[in-house]
Amino acid sequence: MAKIALLPGDGIGVEITKQAALVLETVSAKYGLDLELNEGLFGGAAYDQTGTAFPPETIELVQTSDAVLLGAIGGPKWDSLPADERLEIVGLLRLRKMAGAYANLRPAVMYPSMVDSSTLKPDVVSGIDIMVVRELTGGLYFGEPRLREPHPTGARAVDTLEYTTLEIERIVDLAFQLARGRRGKVTSVDKANVLESSRLWREVACAVAQKYPDVEFESMLVDNCAMQLVRKPKQFDVLVTENMFGDILSDEAAMLTGSIGMLPSASIGGDVDIYEPIHGSAPDIAGKNMANPIGTILSAAMMLRYTFRLDEPARAIERAVERVLEAGYRTADITSPGSRTVGTDEMGELICREVDA
Ligand code: IPM
Ligand code: MG
Repeated sequence: MAKIALLPGDGIGVEITKQAALVLETVSAKYGLDLELNEGLFGGAAYDQTGTAFPPETIELVQTSDAVLLGAIGGPKWDSLPADERLEIVGLLRLRKMAGAYANLRPAVMYPSMVDSSTLKPDVVSGIDIMVVRELTGGLYFGEPRLREPHPTGARAVDTLEYTTLEIERIVDLAFQLARGRRGKVTSVDKANVLESSRLWREVACAVAQKYPDVEFESMLVDNCAMQLVRKPKQFDVLVTENMFGDILSDEAAMLTGSIGMLPSASIGGDVDIYEPIHGSAPDIAGKNMANPIGTILSAAMMLRYTFRLDEPARAIERAVERVLEAGYRTADITSPGSRTVGTDEMGELICREVDA
């Protein structure tokens, strides 16, 4: 049996995970899969009910599951919590660290029927297929010391950017393995002209590249990469980079494909795999049946593929999404001339119907 912890979280997280769960049920019935979904409290919802973003019951649920399907967390209500209670730190970052999920895969794929939804010109974005591989359990997000203290001018704050050889090696290695099953190119992104940690990153990445003579390799500075992504995105196949650069570049890559609402992610390499859309909890549209559930639904497909090795059911979900988009259905974030705007529920229903067809 496949045990899945479902953590809806806050804001639109609740609506989009509901649709993803329905899609999983549909695909499960169709292919006779043995999936067990158990819901847990996480994020602001958990904070309000238990006083912490990641309560012990949820920790146990995660530790006894094979995979986590997460919606999104956060909202203005919890924005002023102190650092040691912040939802992102106590909840999301602790979950990632605890799971040991160091490799965050964020595929930015342009669907042919979505070309007009991008803010960039069709010839620049049509055919984009980029896999952003973001290091997820190191770097600035976790480095110590992390502090804030009084200072004659007001305050002084410190974050620490730290990487070890092993942390770089394992993520870059994974990027090369992924590239072998794709178009065979890896771009490693760093800031080696300024940062010591980036010089180590580049050195290790170049050493790993020696093991893969069949894969094309280049190192690129992060500012140049940000520019190249909007200038000529089709030059990229697999992009591998440290945590913070990956956070920023994956939002940029997502937007090339039309909407951040479309992008799924897989966080793998540890004891429990985590699947989540790359967007946030969008409090401004929460509860309005407007959010795009596709990023979460595609995350569920990635879960079937990477954690449970169920390639055919995963493909069935992806094909269903493609067909619904081809038929012209769009949530509000991806409308284009001539498309039909539907709500979160209807989009989920349409995708279920296609899975079942
Ligand atoms: C993401 C998000 C998170 C991150 C936030 C919510 C902490 O932006 O998954 O990209 O920065 O990792
Ligand atoms: Mg982000």
